[in-house]
Amino acid sequence: MSKKEKNLTPVSSGAKKVTTHVLQEMKLKGEKIAMLTAYDYSTAKIVDSAGIDVILVGDSASNVMAGHETTLPITLDQMIYHAASVIRGIESSLVVVDLPFGAYQGNSKEALSSAIRIMKESGAHAVKLEGGREILESVDRILSAGIPVMGHLGLTPQSIYKFGTYVVRAREEEEAVRLKEDALLLQESGCFAVVLEKIPAQLASEVAASTSIPMIGIGAGSGVDGQVLVIHDMLGINQDFHPRFLRRYHNLAEEITGAVQGYIHDVKAVDFPNEREQY
Ligand code: KIV
Repeated sequence: MSKKEKNLTPVSSGAKKVTTHVLQEMKLKGEKIAMLTAYDYSTAKIVDSAGIDVILVGDSASNVMAGHETTLPITLDQMIYHAASVIRGIESSLVVVDLPFGAYQGNSKEALSSAIRIMKESGAHAVKLEGGREILESVDRILSAGIPVMGHLGLTPQSIYKFGTYVVRAREEEEAVRLKEDALLLQESGCFAVVLEKIPAQLASEVAASTSIPMIGIGAGSGVDGQVLVIHDMLGINQDFHPRFLRRYHNLAEEITGAVQGYIHDVKAVDFPNEREQY
């Protein structure tokens, strides 16, 4: 690509940067927060310029980028690689990065050093940890270093081998009460927001109503303060996942297949490249 063809100076859209304070104001105003995952520069650039509030560099990268069955295998180094790529593509979105399995469960010192690596090596704006009361010491330590923390309750995929299944969580009273208490504990410890994954809509809206920080749902109904989806699922790149909560906004797998087949056809028919496409 020549210098003429390549735009070397990125044009700033001038869009206002989303911060944790902006999210707090959105909750106060009742304005819903839109969050999506992204794991690479090009996707992050599109999602950011489309106006998304929050980009989550989720450990779901383990599934949709690397093809693992669970989120457990992804490493801290791999999360930092994805996060740094996303950061290079954004102008205004808040970028939150998952602390991967094994990078914070040991003790709060380990949690802090993992969070510091993410912030320092990727340039991300915040980290997300799964769990309730059992991670409070780590949340406290990470916050004491000035790193914003997002919580994650309900179905926490890093504990899939404990749950044994991906079914809806907290349907029983005991687990629902514990989840409500955990949401308040995370709020009191200083988390700026919490993801509520795959829990009954009624419970999720009660939690959102009884907390002052944003509750962002995935499979948690509409009574929360925002929604998050995995981008490969909502764009229809990932065709093997059909949970009830997922709305598909596109069938990108079909579009990509059509484009690739068109390319194969043109190459084999010596139709590509034509005279205008060569030097
Ligand atoms: O890793 C991820 O993508 C997540 C979302 C499902 C909330 O944690």
